[in-house]
Amino acid sequence: MNSVTVSAPSNIALIKYMGKIEGSGNKPTNGSLSYTLENLRTFVRLTEISGPVDQWKAFVREDLTPIELSEKGQQRFIKHLGFLKMKWGVTQNYLIESANNFPSDCGLASSASSFAALTLAAAEMFQKTHPQSWGTDKKTLSELSRQGSGSSCRSLYSPWALWQHEYAENMALPFENLHHLVVIVEDSKKEVSSSEAHKLVTTSPRFEGRVDRAEMRLRDLTNALRFNDWHLARQIVWDEFIDMHKLFETSTPSFSYMTDGSRQVLEECQKLWNKWQDGPLVTMDAGANVHMLFRNDQLKSFASYREQFAANFKVMAFEGVKSNVH
Ligand code: DP6
Repeated sequence: MNSVTVSAPSNIALIKYMGKIEGSGNKPTNGSLSYTLENLRTFVRLTEISGPVDQWKAFVREDLTPIELSEKGQQRFIKHLGFLKMKWGVTQNYLIESANNFPSDCGLASSASSFAALTLAAAEMFQKTHPQSWGTDKKTLSELSRQGSGSSCRSLYSPWALWQHEYAENMALPFENLHHLVVIVEDSKKEVSSSEAHKLVTTSPRFEGRVDRAEMRLRDLTNALRFNDWHLARQIVWDEFIDMHKLFETSTPSFSYMTDGSRQVLEECQKLWNKWQDGPLVTMDAGANVHMLFRNDQLKSFASYREQFAANFKVMAFEGVKSNVH
């Protein structure tokens, strides 16, 4: 029986995709820039089956953590496979199995790595079975992956990905080997999914002007990184996630992912920055956890932040060595 196993990394946005054009298959209202998290990966195994429909189940492999997916989550995944099959003109049915190489109880579950891995797995399978029918160049795959989950289109590029319209592209920037620390403030499932957040933020009075603010930061951040201005980059990245979280808080109905724990971690980061006039890029997604990216020459402070936050929180730390798991 034909089977392929593929993995894809997660990514963390420094300029956020928040707000999409309705009915466009997840086309964003503003450009976003992300750093690919090579060590946080989803594995997808696709196997031909003779059953009447596609199916999903958790991938059981000793070194991996099976993904727990709600019925709705499973259907969304299966729907994306259906969409890919339609594009390739494939009628064969498949079993999709998926798992992560990081624990499921850390609040890091990521649709970006999942949908990117499913898109890549399908492309690999269909290329074998239907070689003539559809392109498998990166742009095409990024565009297809986007339609499953927007942020996943950036996971096809490493280390930096720029996504402005239909698909993401690689962006050549310095700082190719960042070290990633996540302070796990909250490990439970979030109440408002990012897909819902994209809709709700458009009700915020602050959404007016959001596109311009994000686009301006995108320009300023890429320039700051290009010119090795880490201080400026850190300020822009900080302003950007605060802007996104303010959108959440001023939406109707308003919602928030920030907890006392997040605030405590952010305050501590600010204090450390003020003390040393240096530190990591700090950002938060649609969740309570705080992500930090350290330069390669900051390995010492990477270790000391890790130790300091581990006194009160669960911490996950990933040295920026390119992962060789595939
Ligand atoms: C806050 O890609 O999860 O992480 O397209 O509806 O699947 P859908 O949304 P999703 O949104 C991610 C939002 C974010 C910011 C980002 O990754 O850019």
